[in-house]
Amino acid sequence: MSNSPQKQAPFQYQDLGPANSNSRAEILAGLREERKRISPKYFYDDTGSALFEEITRQPEYYPTRTERHILTEHAMDMAAAIGTGTVLMEPGAGSCEKVRLLLDALKPTAYVPMDIAGEFLQRSAARLQSDFPWLHIAALRADFAVMPSLPQGLPAGPRTLFYPGSTLGNFSPLQATSFLRHARRLVGDGGAMLIGVDLHKDSAILNRAYNDSAGVTARFNRNALHHLNRILPADFQPLQFRHVAFYNGDRHRIEMYLESQIEQTVTAAGEVIYFSPGEKIHTEISCKYSQESFTSLAAAADLNVQNCWQDADNLFAVFLLTSDSP
Ligand code: TRP
Repeated sequence: MSNSPQKQAPFQYQDLGPANSNSRAEILAGLREERKRISPKYFYDDTGSALFEEITRQPEYYPTRTERHILTEHAMDMAAAIGTGTVLMEPGAGSCEKVRLLLDALKPTAYVPMDIAGEFLQRSAARLQSDFPWLHIAALRADFAVMPSLPQGLPAGPRTLFYPGSTLGNFSPLQATSFLRHARRLVGDGGAMLIGVDLHKDSAILNRAYNDSAGVTARFNRNALHHLNRILPADFQPLQFRHVAFYNGDRHRIEMYLESQIEQTVTAAGEVIYFSPGEKIHTEISCKYSQESFTSLAAAADLNVQNCWQDADNLFAVFLLTSDSP
């Protein structure tokens, strides 16, 4: 673990890895598999985080603006249900933009944004700090799938996990359950979770959202290969891979791949990886839920749905979960 406080950073910052060597073994294992895959966390280097922000501004990508609308509309109700003065944690905080919609109502004693993209996170935290000088910010660079322990010196008192953006949907239901169990331990007794979830809907809307006409999602998907080229290193030619994303209605999820356009080999950390034409690397899933299916998912992690706020078109929902057994 390295502790790298930014020079003159007004907020706390801690880097909890991951170290490059762990990543290398993990990436190669995925590329050696019969059905090749890379973890979605490799989307998020500095460029990838910026591209993701651009996705959120595309006209086809309804989740961000819909969730922002819900948070704006119901911030007071949410604060009333959660209570002010909690320690607010946000895995995958990225730009730290959505939390702004809650801060004045929720008045947390501290805010702990976590993200894998450390430089991006530090810039986001710095901007947030200058706009909310009263807020105690303790930013963590961490792989939040492996829930890190929290930094020292946080105020005591109840904790709230803020997990917007339907990021939970990027886990399989099984992984999501285990994430929620971890999270439940992290918030502890009397803790709460405010979770943004994308809902079942017409597949045409979903397919458009992950295939925007400006091609930003395609660039974002391919950026994972640029990122691997840098950290392994490897010699992927990203433009020889096509962005593929579609809604799998049976499994209620978007599946995203990079499909090799040609027969090719790629050298990754000294290892030669063969691709047949049309062979795909799996890069992401985005599971969609209904009120019922999300309530069962929460129940599997011993969590209760305390409240749920939705937009008028039922595109997106923000759930408030509380611990079953205090
Ligand atoms: N949590 C977001 C989602 O599932 C992340 C996301 C949006 C995303 N667009 C993407 C992830 C494209 C990968 C590729 O909607």
